[in-house]
Amino acid sequence: MLSQQIRTEFLNFFEQHGHLRVPSAPLIPRDDPSLLLVSAGMVPFKAYFLGQKVAPQDRLTSCQKAFRATDIDEVGDLSHDTFFEMLGNFSFGAYFKAEAIAYAFELLTRNFGLDPARLYPSVHPSDETSVQLWEKVAGIPAERISRLEENFWQAGPTGPCGVDSEIYFDLGERFGSGQGERPGQGERYLEIWNLVFMDSEQLTDGSTVPLAHPGVDTGMGLERMAMVLQGCDSIFDTDLFAPIQEDFAGRASKLAEQPGDQGARHLRRLSDHARAACMLIADGVVPSNEGRGYVLRRLLRRASVSALSLGVEGGLAPCVSTVVAVLGETYSELASGAERVRAVIEQEEVRFEETLSRGLEHFEEVLASAEGGTIAGSAAFRLHDTFGFPLEVTEDLASARGVEIDREGVERLLKVQREQARASRTISLAGTAETDLPPTEFVGYDQLEASGQVRLLLRQGQPLDRAGAGEEVEVVLDVSPFYAEGGGQVGDRGALTWGDGSALVLDTRAPQAGARVQHCRVLEGELRQGQDVRATVDREHRAGCAAHHSATHLLNAALHHRLGEGVIQRGSLVSAERATFDFSWPHPLSEY
Ligand code: SER
Repeated sequence: MLSQQIRTEFLNFFEQHGHLRVPSAPLIPRDDPSLLLVSAGMVPFKAYFLGQKVAPQDRLTSCQKAFRATDIDEVGDLSHDTFFEMLGNFSFGAYFKAEAIAYAFELLTRNFGLDPARLYPSVHPSDETSVQLWEKVAGIPAERISRLEENFWQAGPTGPCGVDSEIYFDLGERFGSGQGERPGQGERYLEIWNLVFMDSEQLTDGSTVPLAHPGVDTGMGLERMAMVLQGCDSIFDTDLFAPIQEDFAGRASKLAEQPGDQGARHLRRLSDHARAACMLIADGVVPSNEGRGYVLRRLLRRASVSALSLGVEGGLAPCVSTVVAVLGETYSELASGAERVRAVIEQEEVRFEETLSRGLEHFEEVLASAEGGTIAGSAAFRLHDTFGFPLEVTEDLASARGVEIDREGVERLLKVQREQARASRTISLAGTAETDLPPTEFVGYDQLEASGQVRLLLRQGQPLDRAGAGEEVEVVLDVSPFYAEGGGQVGDRGALTWGDGSALVLDTRAPQAGARVQHCRVLEGELRQGQDVRATVDREHRAGCAAHHSATHLLNAALHHRLGEGVIQRGSLVSAERATFDFSWPHPLSEY
């Protein structure tokens, strides 16, 4: 059965059972700041479950575009993808477990012709009702039903939630490991449909309250259903992916050279990521360094890495017409936006090539300084952070030269960076002005990283010997690359790392001439008086400040140039995100 027939069969079935068919919402969620991208069929209907809005009908059915990055590292195996289509039926108080199970069983066995003996439902251990219903409605005995703790579903940290019953299809012994695995383990049992019995709402404090009208949210992965109904070994062999894979394979001059199953894995990853990127761009996502734009950028970069490994002639962009041929009829925004999609991908590929060639020079330097066959975590992190050089590229290139990278070290710095993004900037350096501070040699004009020693640890002006994870302290180093707040420009941020520890530098100030104090939060390990540390400035933050600093000088110069010397600067604030500039001038300014 072709994927288009599966969509139609599913939606028709539920229409015949009184459901209103609604079109897919865009991948960018409307009015839902808790999610970057629509990750399930129920997302556009959250407010209906919660009773905040009234649904156009109390039963809906849809084929919803969805994207999940949670399993991105699994993509390359037989069944994981990032963009997928989710077929669903939804009840907002109209029906609950019995009808949902009956509908699912009927559609799977009658319309899709699946052998009931190959269906293996699972339920939450607390949900005896569903066990009984599966037996009554479908004749599936209790011993064929797995009770899994993870059978509970919610679309984010807050919102509607409930226990669920998943339906697994037995692909056959050929897919098994021979270890007698059960549904939920290994590849033999493929989850094809999830029936969620929404009866609660999770609140921000983690507590749950019952929903006024319990409902049903189901999700059937179209790609997986196509795999089953088309008798394929993987979702990538179905009509939803095969033409895209073939397009890449036909242009991949180095496919045959790949060891083991590497070629096949690269092809699957490439097909998934390129297809997902097309769908995201068609819905208005543009590559950037944050939020959903970053998700897209990362996808395109990962795909480019695979394309490079396989020697794909022409890169990613030519696949757009193939993706349009597969999905353009179902999603008209893809067909009508094809040219733009292609242009965005081309532009991003060019940018990435520049990044790679710039990064390659630095990679060579890093490689030359690698000691003992290992690239230091901080060096690999810098390639990634400063030059946008993906870690997997560093790893691939390094391993081709017989060198490893210190993964743990990189992970630690990545963690610091994530924390940094979250860190608050309400900082007090109370007491440091009155303390006798040792001098610091400032090396930050031409160095953004330096080795130093902790000369003094303070809290509220009181010296202390050590600070543990979670504590905030003032740190004075003998040598520091951190620029202190001054002249309206905020202080540097960054990280201190040592042996088994790390700390965030949240701010830097100079409360006395020649002295420099870093306000830090210890993340891991213990920071001690006398500790040798590696101090690393957050480059992006510094670069943002530098750019805004230059902008205020340019603005000042331009004002003097246009208006004359009567312009008097009254103050300015320079941060990584913005600059403000106050000035006085005796006349109103005319429009330029
Ligand atoms: N929301 C559930 C899921 O995504 C069922 O649609 O699995």
